[in-house]
Amino acid sequence: MEKSPIRVLVTGAAGQIAYSLLYPLSKGDVFGHDQPIELVLLDIEAMLTVLDGVVMEMQDCALPLLKSIIPTADTDVACKDIDVAILVGAMPRREGMERKDLLRANVKIFKAQGESLDKHAKKSVKVVVVGNPANTNAFICKKYAPSIPPENFTALTRLDQNRAQAQIATRMGLVPQDVKNVIIWGNHSNTQFPDVRHAKVAGKGVYEAVQDDAWLKGDFIKTVQTRGAAVIKARKLSSAMSAAKAIGDHMRDWWFGTKGDEYVSMAVPSDGSYGIEKGIIYSFPVQAKPDHTYSIVQGLQIDEFSKEKMTTTLTELQEEKCSAEEFCGY
Ligand code: NAD
Ligand code: LMR
Repeated sequence: MEKSPIRVLVTGAAGQIAYSLLYPLSKGDVFGHDQPIELVLLDIEAMLTVLDGVVMEMQDCALPLLKSIIPTADTDVACKDIDVAILVGAMPRREGMERKDLLRANVKIFKAQGESLDKHAKKSVKVVVVGNPANTNAFICKKYAPSIPPENFTALTRLDQNRAQAQIATRMGLVPQDVKNVIIWGNHSNTQFPDVRHAKVAGKGVYEAVQDDAWLKGDFIKTVQTRGAAVIKARKLSSAMSAAKAIGDHMRDWWFGTKGDEYVSMAVPSDGSYGIEKGIIYSFPVQAKPDHTYSIVQGLQIDEFSKEKMTTTLTELQEEKCSAEEFCGY
């Protein structure tokens, strides 16, 4: 018997990330090859004609799992009865900007979408915020949707995890999948802390395998922290293909659960673990179960080097939170 469809909202649906995301999402790569999907596509009024073109292309892909497509510029219509919200729609940064420079322009989008989710979405809705600054936008979205469990609001740091895995794998002449349990702590920004102290590469600790502590504590961290800016400098546009891939990875692991004792990084509301202020959307190592619940991995030893880096990125998030609340009116 065919499963009942799930209703999946993608915002910023006429933009570049959505263009790389909608095909894999609708052909079953994220929620399973037996899971029918009703797609809801939100963009702003001025982009509706472009969105029409995207809808035409989706129809022309002739995908068996794609049961319906609703394009709209009305947030309330978009949020109606949704099971999953992939919130991409926001202004991207340009060369020379930091992601937090987008806060004033973007945070109100997430306030409005939080209010709409609160009124119209299923209470079980799973939300991933991609639009930057992603952690703080997710914090605001959660704040304005008090009837939805806070743990249902997450932000994307999986792209940073994938970048870190790829850097280690390239260095070792392996593939990224050979690198397990890399952690991204904190903000999706240049203060994030990509931590490989608990990671394994082909069964060995990364420090033991790489044999270059100076690189692991220096250029490796810097490269991951500033990879988004490097892509913008080269492409004159922010990452889209890799961002779409990371969104799929994030949602798939949340939906189906993580494997064995492996963990992945997701920015989630802090429960106070590792001394991080409760409620802040902070990237942690998490393990997920097939019932779509997840928990923060406990008991990892944090050395002085890590502690300092985890505090720096927390401080930035606390500052962003204050600015965001001010921009939203309190
Ligand atoms: P884009 O400009 O190509 O597309 C953004 C789309 O969002 C546009 O079509 C725009 O009209 C739409 N939009 C704007 N306001 C909206 C609203 N209120 N409701 C619905 N749609 C709205 O940008 P992009 O490259 O797709 O990037 C989107 C966002 O994702 C940016 O903020 C970018 O910085 C961020 N991003 C995050 C990550 C991450 O890892 N967290 C990675 C890459 C990009
Ligand atoms: C990225 O990490 O590539 C995105 O957040 C886009 C950006 O502004 O860096």
